[in-house]
Amino acid sequence: MKTTVESPPVKTEVGNYFISNYPPFSCWQPEEIPKLLHVLSKNARPGPIGLYVHVPFCRQRCHYCYFRVYPRRSPEDVNLYIDSVLKEFSLYQNYPAFQNRAFSSVYFGGGSPSYPSIEQIRRLLGGLQERSSWDGVEECTFECEPGTVTPEKLQALKDLGVTRLSIGFQTLNDEILRRSGRDNRVEDCVRAFQQAREAGFDEINVDLLAGMAGETEATWRRTMDQVLELMPDCVTLYQLELTYNSSLYTSLKAGREVPLPSWPAKRTMVREAFRMCEEAGYVIGSGYMAIRNPKRWRFVYTVEHFWHGADLLALGETAFGHLHGVHYQNVDTFERYTELLQKGKLPLRRALRLKPEEKLRREVILHLKTGQLDATYFRDKFGVDLVDRFGPQFEALLKKCLLEIEGDTIRLTREGLLQVDWLLPDFYLPWHEGVRYT
Ligand SMILES: C[S@@+](CC[C@H](N)C(=O)[O-])C[C@H]1O[C@@H](n2cnc3c(N)ncnc32)[C@H](O)[C@@H]1O
Ligand code: SF4
Repeated sequence: MKTTVESPPVKTEVGNYFISNYPPFSCWQPEEIPKLLHVLSKNARPGPIGLYVHVPFCRQRCHYCYFRVYPRRSPEDVNLYIDSVLKEFSLYQNYPAFQNRAFSSVYFGGGSPSYPSIEQIRRLLGGLQERSSWDGVEECTFECEPGTVTPEKLQALKDLGVTRLSIGFQTLNDEILRRSGRDNRVEDCVRAFQQAREAGFDEINVDLLAGMAGETEATWRRTMDQVLELMPDCVTLYQLELTYNSSLYTSLKAGREVPLPSWPAKRTMVREAFRMCEEAGYVIGSGYMAIRNPKRWRFVYTVEHFWHGADLLALGETAFGHLHGVHYQNVDTFERYTELLQKGKLPLRRALRLKPEEKLRREVILHLKTGQLDATYFRDKFGVDLVDRFGPQFEALLKKCLLEIEGDTIRLTREGLLQVDWLLPDFYLPWHEGVRYT
């Protein structure tokens, strides 16, 4: 068996790295949408369900960013979008699959959900709450771009039931922030964080991005020192991915010199960040997360539910969800999304009903992102012995010292964890190997 473990890339070339779901999105098809409509018409099944709301607006489009975002959209466009999201939600509430179904977690992701005004945020969250019960919501996360938060906005979020804030720092170096096209500066990041604490948020995550243009080991270490001084409850560390839709790629293609750190350099940055976090008392919770207080900490939305096969209702353009074994994704432009909803239609782009083997592999892939597989869980849920089923994959990882097996616990070593997304395609079904991810 040929494995990707044998040849991890060195240079930061264009392409996808981060794996957020399986099978790859390019395998989802418009022809499978009727399968989603079929499960929507069936009565709700027991089990938790999450709600994801995508907000694609930002003040700027950062050069490295891989999301489709709309910079500086007018208040009218934001209002139209919010109306569309509420309409989409109402359409779903009419289906039997959503009758008497209460959400256990809510996540507002972007883009920058903090870009809309306080009034607009109230209308969005209030509108969703009017249309469904939030009594069972255990966690409500809201992503913020530091330059768009104010004490008043943070207070409104708190009053509306947001329990967890995720603030995008990326780096704490003004020159690197400026060079990457971000409008905020270090002082905005620190101020946003302090204001969030003052507003009473005791669950704050900070996003960092290893490998931005111009970042060095020294600037990165300085960033980590400053981040740890703030004592966030969670630090999420991404490794920069160069994608076709980013302006960074356009600049590189046009021949501009951009000092982009290599993959080994990015791994060194995250390795060092993990070391510094551990020294400060944090625990490494996945290939991307350091957690300050693991006893208290939870991440209901992904780790506890979605990564264990739970349903997820996803609203907004490009959003992807999952219902009773069927993946689906929405259309990917603002215009198409709002137009379809004005006509009273679900804004669906493509779907995929998962076969039993795909469900198993999806969970193996997503659980590996936490750095650990529990063989008992897979035996109980899927009736499969992981070591038998994935013998060649585990063998290749063991040989490279990227994995260790201890009884029923199959664990990535720190080196394995630092390159986890490169290892995951080895667990794909043969016909998904080498296919485009998105
Ligand atoms: C939707 S953003 C939310 C934060 C907010 N928009 C901000 O930037 O402040 C989520 C995270 O995606 C990460 N991200 C964006 N572009 C990336 C890329 N090209 N490679 C890896 N991670 C990326 C960034 O760390 C960002 O904080
Ligand atoms: S990194 Fe955040 S603020 Fe920058 S364009 Fe992407 S989503 Fe918007």
